[in-house]
Amino acid sequence: MDWGLKNRLSRVIKPDTGRCVMLAVDHGYFLGPTTGLEDAGKTIAPLLPYADALMPTRGVLRACVDPAQAQGTPIVVRASGGNSIIGELSDEDITMSMEDALRLNVSGVALSIYVGGEYQHRTLVNLARLVDEGQRYGMPVLAVTAVGKDLGKDARYLSLACRIAAELGAHFVKTYYCKDFERVTGTCPVPVVMAGGKKIPELDALKLTSKAIKGGAVGVDMGRNIFQADDPVAMIQAVRAVVHQNMSPKKAHDLYRGIKASNKRKRGRK
Ligand code: R5P
Repeated sequence: MDWGLKNRLSRVIKPDTGRCVMLAVDHGYFLGPTTGLEDAGKTIAPLLPYADALMPTRGVLRACVDPAQAQGTPIVVRASGGNSIIGELSDEDITMSMEDALRLNVSGVALSIYVGGEYQHRTLVNLARLVDEGQRYGMPVLAVTAVGKDLGKDARYLSLACRIAAELGAHFVKTYYCKDFERVTGTCPVPVVMAGGKKIPELDALKLTSKAIKGGAVGVDMGRNIFQADDPVAMIQAVRAVVHQNMSPKKAHDLYRGIKASNKRKRGRK
């Protein structure tokens, strides 16, 4: 790995703890105006100071994120897409050039692979192509092991997908938590971040985060369980405590409730 690539990756996965909390806000690329991201800029702004990295599309980044406000937040931009929730999701391609990623001054690019899906071959070759481009310019590539309609979130499938992503050269991988998660992280030679998934109660999301970290993930790339929480700013801080300080889910949930109550008081005073 060259210096630039290592430097970019270390902006995302923090060298002091070896961990990261990425905030995923790229949902619109196939879901359109997702709940909580209707006014993406308004949702993202107060969360930026607590995110180790932000994962948007280039459209939302340009239109909704103030470049000056985000100067301290590394960006991992989504670089694949081309379909919608109405169509065949796995029918994806690379949707932006490395030149544009560099122009946006990002610290990484992300692309989904659909192992076992109808478009497995194309999405895997796309990953290899993006990695070649990344190597040329010193840009880390995050492979997102997307799960198609008929594919299960189990260790057998996810370890296959993560390992293939790493073998094709991905610099880090995003995948779902599953039973026997250690099997997924233990057989993947590059860092693994856990995908958040659908909104669940805050305590459950913190438990999931803790299990993923204990299971060998270097962090999370979480969206809905943060920005759809009752208090997103409190939730991202609680997730940080689990990821960076190994705080127990119970204590992190107490922290969440404490910050939430204090934020409510502050809002009441205005
Ligand atoms: C998954 O393929 C996409 O990157 C999602 O748009 C997003 O990252 C999902 O985040 P979460 O499941 O935590 O809301």
